[in-house]
Amino acid sequence: MSSSIMRSLDLQLELDLKERRGRSQQLVAGLRRAIESGRLLPGARLPSTRGVAADLGLARGTVTSAYHRLIAEGYLESVQGSGTRVVAAHHGEARARRPPPGTCSPWQWNLRPGLPDVTMFPRAAWVRSTQRVLRLVPAEALDYGDPRGRPELRQALADYLGRTRGVVTRPERIIVCHGFTQALGLIATVLAEQGMGTVSVEDPCYPLFRNVIETAGLNVHPVGVDERGLRPEGLRGQAAVVTPIHQYPMGATLTPARRKALVAWAEEADAVIVEDDYDGEFQFGRQRVGALQALAPHRVIYAGTTSKTLAPGLRLAWLAVPGDWVERIAAAKRIADQHSAALTQMVLADLLRSGGYDRHVRRCRERYRIRREQLSSAVARGVPGAWLIGEEAGLHALVRWSPDGPGEREVIQAARRESLAVAALGGYWGTPGPHPPGLVVGYATPPQHGYAGALGALVRVLGRCFAA
Ligand SMILES: Cc1ncc(COP(=O)(O)O)c(C=O)c1O
Repeated sequence: MSSSIMRSLDLQLELDLKERRGRSQQLVAGLRRAIESGRLLPGARLPSTRGVAADLGLARGTVTSAYHRLIAEGYLESVQGSGTRVVAAHHGEARARRPPPGTCSPWQWNLRPGLPDVTMFPRAAWVRSTQRVLRLVPAEALDYGDPRGRPELRQALADYLGRTRGVVTRPERIIVCHGFTQALGLIATVLAEQGMGTVSVEDPCYPLFRNVIETAGLNVHPVGVDERGLRPEGLRGQAAVVTPIHQYPMGATLTPARRKALVAWAEEADAVIVEDDYDGEFQFGRQRVGALQALAPHRVIYAGTTSKTLAPGLRLAWLAVPGDWVERIAAAKRIADQHSAALTQMVLADLLRSGGYDRHVRRCRERYRIRREQLSSAVARGVPGAWLIGEEAGLHALVRWSPDGPGEREVIQAARRESLAVAALGGYWGTPGPHPPGLVVGYATPPQHGYAGALGALVRVLGRCFAA
């Protein structure tokens, strides 16, 4: 076996270049090792792809694709005018520092909730699906289309949702939107047009959604949650927006009794339930809980999104709506933006049909399950005064502690000093406190190689605050 030394980097990369196959993967692995071990320092500039290709006798495309792969994984970044560099966040012991030019996040570590690990985006599968779509796309698909979305995607989604989430629907009842944020805005618009005044919303919840509802001219009525999920006795108005699988951000799964009570309330009040199934794909137990929608398909608008499975930047989500809601939401969607981008919808449809979406979700689930266990044992071992809740599902968990412990502000300030981005529970309430303190930890957010460092920073921050 002959190995070659990559002199232009002044690094010994063990590469077996005799075999033509797998050279790009070897280059990726060699560079990854060099970065992880700290031999290539943060900010270090890599030689041009042309130079590396000439030195190693490789095709330039081989080197380019290795660089692209490492950019996708978050190891390298391409900086306008100054080539390719190692990004800052790979070195476990590195301290907060000014971000290198071209890096948008000023944080060394990011455990903010609400994001998947976007470096896992299935680029190769997406490229393959895009190529298939472009080869076969009919001219008709490039014209204005149905406000509900492309028929291929609605069919693929109806199949997928029935199979994986137990949703009872048909392609005609699916409406594709630019994220759940837009979908909720459309529902709120329709409710306002119908003269509805009040929407029940879990408290705490994702604050943007309260704004979306209020912007449509509706009142938000906060409903408390506990360890069994939303408390149905607090429901009011003509609609409720709920997260039954994994309450956002507290993390409880709505119990079967409360699911029934929620549906009974909706029947009684002639109300509609909006089921925000934002992270239903990521349930870690053997028994997965299916969508609430199956209990009352005529009362529940089911919502799913690619923002947690693929990437929020795609802005692709879907609703499965009761028959009598289809026309009204489709009309609102047409007024908002005609319809979502046809080609992107077709690519997602292909990814779903080819099994690529399922494979990707499985990979992510496995990775997040391991990260969740690491978080759980790191908090149990490193922060005796705190405990974790809501980690049975999803991409985030809540670190809780007694009100006698440190204040949230103190913890956030300590995190800032450690260059750790993390969210305090305080920002999610819709009612004045006092509320129990906590941190909402997005364990899916960092790239894989940044997770151990982020976790270490979290434990240091909490450990210090509890010791003070
Ligand atoms: C509770 C909850 N639901 C849904 C979403 C997804 O919204 P969108 O599809 O607009 O990205 C988010 C995103 O942060 C969220 O926090």
